[in-house]
Amino acid sequence: MRVFVAGGAGVLGRRLVPQLVARGHQVTATTTSAAKLDLLERLGAEAVVMDGLDAMSVGEAVAAARSDVIVHQMTAISGTPDIKHFDRWFAATNRLRTEGTDHLLAAAEATGVSHFVAQSHASWNGIRKGGWVKTEEDPLDPTSTGKGAEAIRHLEEAVVKAGGAVLRYGAFYGPGATGDQVELVRKRQYPVVGNGAGHSSWVHLDDAASATVLAVEQKARGVFNIVDDEPAPAGEWLPYLAACAGAKRPMRIPTWLARPLAGKVAVTMMTEGRGFSNAKAKRELGWRLRYPSWRQGFKEELA
Ligand SMILES: NC(=O)c1ccc[n+]([C@@H]2O[C@H](COP(=O)([O-])OP(=O)(O)OC[C@H]3O[C@@H](n4cnc5c(N)ncnc54)[C@H](OP(=O)(O)O)[C@@H]3O)[C@@H](O)[C@H]2O)c1
Repeated sequence: MRVFVAGGAGVLGRRLVPQLVARGHQVTATTTSAAKLDLLERLGAEAVVMDGLDAMSVGEAVAAARSDVIVHQMTAISGTPDIKHFDRWFAATNRLRTEGTDHLLAAAEATGVSHFVAQSHASWNGIRKGGWVKTEEDPLDPTSTGKGAEAIRHLEEAVVKAGGAVLRYGAFYGPGATGDQVELVRKRQYPVVGNGAGHSSWVHLDDAASATVLAVEQKARGVFNIVDDEPAPAGEWLPYLAACAGAKRPMRIPTWLARPLAGKVAVTMMTEGRGFSNAKAKRELGWRLRYPSWRQGFKEELA
C-alpha cells in the first residue's frame, strides 16, 4: 500500500515508518523541519516538509503522495512538560487534533484517499465512574484535560464519521518517550499523589506501531484501545518505574498539597484515573504484543 504518515519523525512515527517499510509498503512521511528529512529517508520513507496547521501545505503534500491511506500522528508534546498548565502545554497539540485533522480529512476526500487512521489517547482518561478498566464502549472522561478532551472528541468524531480508525494509544514508553518523566522521577519531583489508586494504561512504542500497521492493512474502522494487558494504579507503576530507572522511591504527597503544586490533571490522574482494556484490538485486529506488561517493558527500556 502507499501510506502517508503525517508526523513521521515523532517518537511513534520513527518506530512506525520502519515497520511499514519492512511490510513492503511505500511510505511518505512528513516533518515540519527540513533538518529531519534525512532521518525520514534513512527510515525508508519518501520525506516531505508539511505544516499540519496550513491547509494549503497539507493539500499539496497529500496530493503529491497519491496514497491509499493517511496515518495522522501529529502532536506537539515535546518540550518541557507542564502538567499544571495542561491547556497551555497542549495548545498546539489541540490544534493539530482539530484543525490538523480537518485539513488531512479534507485533503483525503479531495484526492480520493480511501482510508484514514488517527492517533487518540487512552491512558488514564476513561470516564470516572464504575470500574477501573474501560472498553471502547465506555465514554472518555469529557473533563479529564479540559480543552485537550474536547480536541480528542473532535478528532474521534470526525475520523469515525469518515469511516476511519481511531487508535487510542496508552501512555508511550520506549526509545525517546519517557526521558522527561524519568528525569523528574530521578529528581524526586514525581510523587505518588494521595492513595495512588488512579489507574493508567501504558504501551510500548513498538507495540503501538504494530497495532497501527494492522489497522492500516486491514482498513480498520472505529475505535480501538491500543494499550498493554495491565492497567495499573499509580501507586504500583510509579515506584516500579523509579526502581527500573535506578532512582529512589517516589515520595507520597497528600491530595491537598498536590493540587496547588501539580494541578488538577495530575491529581485526577493519580487518584481517580481509569485505565483501558485491549481485548477489542486483540480480537478484531489480531494484535499480539511484544511487551504485554509495562513490568517487563520498563525493566528492559529503563535499566
Ligand atoms: N499517547 C501518548 O502518551 C503520547 C502521544 C504522543 C506523544 N507523547 C509524548 O510526547 C513526547 C514528544 O513526542 P514526539 O517526540 O513524538 O514529538 P511531538 O512534538 O509530539 O511531535 C510528534 C510529531 O508531530 C509532528 N508535528 C508537530 N507539529 C506539527 C505541525 N504543525 N505540522 C505537522 N506535523 C507536526 C512532529 O513533526 P517534526 O518532525 O517537525 O517534529 C512529529 O513528527 C514524548 O515524550 C512522547 O512519549 C505521548
